Amino acid sequence: MASDWKSFEPILIPDIPNLDKIDVYIENGGYKALEKVVKGDDWTPESVVNEVKEANIRGRGGAGFNAGLKWSFMPPADGGPRYLACNGDESEPGTFKDRKIFEYNPHIFIEGALIAAYAMKVTTIYVYIRGEYYSWIKMMEKALQDARDKGFIGKNLFGTDFSVEFEVTGGAGAYICGEETSMLESLEGKRGYPRVKPPFPAQKGLWGRPTTINNIETLANVPSVINNGAAWFKNIGAETHPGPVLYGISGHVNRPGVYELPSGVPVMELINDVAQGIRGGKKLKGLIPGGSSTPILRADQLEGVSMDADSLREAGSMMGTAGMIVMDEDTDMVDALWRISHFYHHESCGQCTPCREGTGWLEKILLKIKNGEGEIRDLDLLLDLTTQMEGRTICALADAAAWPVRHTINRFRDEFEARCKKSVHAVA
Ligand code: NAI
Ligand code: SF4
Repeated sequence: MASDWKSFEPILIPDIPNLDKIDVYIENGGYKALEKVVKGDDWTPESVVNEVKEANIRGRGGAGFNAGLKWSFMPPADGGPRYLACNGDESEPGTFKDRKIFEYNPHIFIEGALIAAYAMKVTTIYVYIRGEYYSWIKMMEKALQDARDKGFIGKNLFGTDFSVEFEVTGGAGAYICGEETSMLESLEGKRGYPRVKPPFPAQKGLWGRPTTINNIETLANVPSVINNGAAWFKNIGAETHPGPVLYGISGHVNRPGVYELPSGVPVMELINDVAQGIRGGKKLKGLIPGGSSTPILRADQLEGVSMDADSLREAGSMMGTAGMIVMDEDTDMVDALWRISHFYHHESCGQCTPCREGTGWLEKILLKIKNGEGEIRDLDLLLDLTTQMEGRTICALADAAAWPVRHTINRFRDEFEARCKKSVHAVA
């Protein structure tokens, strides 16, 4: 539990003017971790992987997978190309934190990605950024050019035999391209259809070659782990989900924004102290803790809950991307859920029937209820549909569409029932 969060000094987006400029980043100790590992002073690729694994940087893109463990899945180098694909698509509604890194501290991410490349013997790094982030794509291109001009990207870094290339690719506005295998298809220039796993990307990724996919914030944590050690990192925030977290707080709060604090901050302190409470002095009704696919929690379920994977799982939800959507007492849950379902239906790639058809059914039935034309039995049909969709598709989009429907109906059932007409079958 991060009770000392008020004295926390940000690591990822510290308050240093012009930190996006490479000279300022270097003046503040930037690229030292990269130099240390590449020159081999006390480091080998294997020891970097082990240190990052020990630090337990849990993937900040939503799944929370141990980043170092993921790196260790890469097969031994065979002289052929190997890739790192950095996922900056962040299209999950409620998620808007990676762009703060692109804007305020791009070099911490670039340095982290280069260290990852060294550790996994990667030959080319791609950073995939959603197309709507046009300005941020330009910022990243500039930052990469500056790093290249300083000799941190390219051939024979620091006079060693380690060489690596680094490219930016912009998406074209499809949510599904943030799914890791779909992103690989998109990087290969194809339509963004998710691939069946296994094989996992470490075995067969970009152009069939070993590939690791990490989120931007995940990689931005790597330089501080190298500089200060895994033990230091594990001491920050929640024990089983350590390190700094970029909390993206949106919705009905007085001060929405992205706040860097340790993991494990109590949810109510984030809402009341950090985001300065509910707008207009209203009461809290519910919270989606980590992007729209993570199950909503009612206000009465939030007592004693903190923002880390274990605490949120016990409460009946997930950490996701820490994109917290706060809803006040006036929120129309039927309308809110319909909007979420509309999004997932629109973004389904259509490869799998349970997802293609199921997301459409969810949206249509919710629209019927929203318009006052639904019946109580429609709620059970919706719940049944979520069961039919979950775990039966190529990627997690169908689950992401099903969970909000299941949990919002179960946790706010009265509100949904109140919007339904009496069932025509209710009286025999
Ligand atoms: P996942 O749990 O299937 O996988 C996590 C990572 O571990 C992946 O990179 C996967 O390849 C790797 N992995 C898992 N098991 C492995 C094994 N046995 N061998 C090798 N590698 C293995 O989750 P997934 O599908 O990558 O992500 C889903 C999450 O993404 C959701 O929890 C959601 O919150 C989040 N999400 C985030 C978005 C954003 O905008 N940042 C958008 C949509 C979803
Ligand atoms: Fe496409 Fe949905 Fe299947 Fe994912 S689950 S591959 S988005 S149809």
